Amino acid sequence: MDFMEVINRRRSIRKYKPDAIPEEDIKDIIEAARLAPSWANSQCWKFVVITDPDVKSQLAKAGNSWIENAPVIITICADPTKPGTKGDQEYYMLDAGIAMEHLILAAANKGLGTCWIGAFDEKAAAKALGVPDNIRVVASTPLGYPAEEPSQRPRRKLEDVMCINRYE
Ligand SMILES: Cc1cc2nc3c(=O)[nH]c(=O)nc-3n(C[C@H](O)[C@H](O)[C@H](O)COP(=O)(O)O)c2cc1C
Repeated sequence: MDFMEVINRRRSIRKYKPDAIPEEDIKDIIEAARLAPSWANSQCWKFVVITDPDVKSQLAKAGNSWIENAPVIITICADPTKPGTKGDQEYYMLDAGIAMEHLILAAANKGLGTCWIGAFDEKAAAKALGVPDNIRVVASTPLGYPAEEPSQRPRRKLEDVMCINRYE
């Protein structure tokens, strides 16, 4: 798919077919995330690919219970000590966000649906996945073939989000 077509076609998908996803496709989309840029190339992330129904169920209980119905859930965890900090900004969230979006766009390129999941009980998610205390659970996405075709959600106009030389 053309790059802008991938960008235009991606949607947050909240209904999934039960069809299995080829392992090669899962590896390809994690590969896209692996190649993401990061602060000083620190690559603070680890992707947990969840296929076990019990683990999916426990993770779904941490927030957004509907994700349990996707054939796969991928959770990105991050070591907050790896990237740098600038003032009060910690870069692990940004680095993990970039990597996750690589993953999401690579999935869209394969016709696979995803949905960023940021609203969850982090302690419950960490317990479900066996994540150690020093590692943050940043976000998850269900992954599967879409069982819905939502229209493109509205965005602010280009002229409202772009200015030249000075912030206006
Ligand atoms: C950081 C982040 C966290 C999000 N968390 C959730 C979430 O917890 N649950 C959910 O259903 N959607 C979540 N979303 C999806 C947004 O609601 C969605 O991207 C937005 O409404 C635009 O729709 P679109 O992705 O189809 O373009 C999240 C998106 C982002 C970027």
